[in-house]
Amino acid sequence: MTGLVLAILLIALPAGFGLWHLAGGVAAVWRRHAAETAVTGLRLRVIWRDDPAPDLFRLWLVGWPFLLPRFSAGQHVVVSVPLPDGRLAKRAYSLAAWHRFPLWYCLAIRKGTDASAVLHRSARPLTRWPVSAPRGHFTDPDPRAPLLLVAGGIGVTPFRALVMQRAAQPWAAPVTLHQTARTVPELLWRAALTQLSARYCGFRYIPRATATQARLTAADILARTGPETHVMICAGDSLTSVLSHDLLAAGLPAARLHVEAFSLALPPEDLGITITMGSHSFRPGRIGSLLEALERGSIAPDSECRTGECSLCSVEILQGRVRDIATGHPVTGRVLACSVIPETDITLRHLA
Ligand code: FES
Repeated sequence: MTGLVLAILLIALPAGFGLWHLAGGVAAVWRRHAAETAVTGLRLRVIWRDDPAPDLFRLWLVGWPFLLPRFSAGQHVVVSVPLPDGRLAKRAYSLAAWHRFPLWYCLAIRKGTDASAVLHRSARPLTRWPVSAPRGHFTDPDPRAPLLLVAGGIGVTPFRALVMQRAAQPWAAPVTLHQTARTVPELLWRAALTQLSARYCGFRYIPRATATQARLTAADILARTGPETHVMICAGDSLTSVLSHDLLAAGLPAARLHVEAFSLALPPEDLGITITMGSHSFRPGRIGSLLEALERGSIAPDSECRTGECSLCSVEILQGRVRDIATGHPVTGRVLACSVIPETDITLRHLA
């Protein structure tokens, strides 16, 4: 008997030791790959695409090795898109699904203009695109605190991932999602979110089509907001600024309000303004954000996220007035061009 135990130990110990080293080696290779990917980015291939509405499309992307870098729900990737005029545009798109070990990334994109329009035309199954590793800070502020999400239009994309992540955490507090769009067919992911609310009892889903129902107000939100609740808003310009203003005025602490300004959602408008930088003056015509105006005049600073996170698009307003997309408040001095809208003629300079 003693001999048998000794024999088992003699086989099991070296085998266990070897397996432990093998697992450590695989983990080290994977960590190195993840670190390199964070710097160099990925080249991902489209494996599926669908177009749920005329101006909305979804892409499913895979890469090699199959296991893609892990991420926190709410983060985005930056896709590099060559434009017809030869420029390379970088656009940030939120990840629309969360998995503990992701084998694919899913993006939901509004067709919009320039880079998104090029992707809409040319992203087909098997095409490959340079994509950054996931990044961004618009993530779950505290999984143990109740969460109330407000999504307008395409803004539901990061919140679908957030709900999936909470559903996978048994200790997570409940989450409520208010989703608004003009019509029912424009409520992106409605069927998937309805199914998720049926499966996950901690999730309450409240869709709203404003063509037939009243608009969402701060009172609707506060009715479901307790003292510990965090509120996250991802919506277009007007809904975001009105709700942020009203929620703060009603006493919601600023530390519990989290807003993502997605200036790409702004409908282009001709504001009739002139922009001046140094000796160069031009009228940008139909634009959304100040960054889009500067791109029209070929004097745009570097940009990447277009959501106010990377700080690459900083400029200084020397004269004129701009307002913050998220809050609607006027801002002066150093601003992020992707996060403000010009209201008058502007004189500015780039910041190094
Ligand atoms: S482009 Fe990243 S902050 Fe403006």
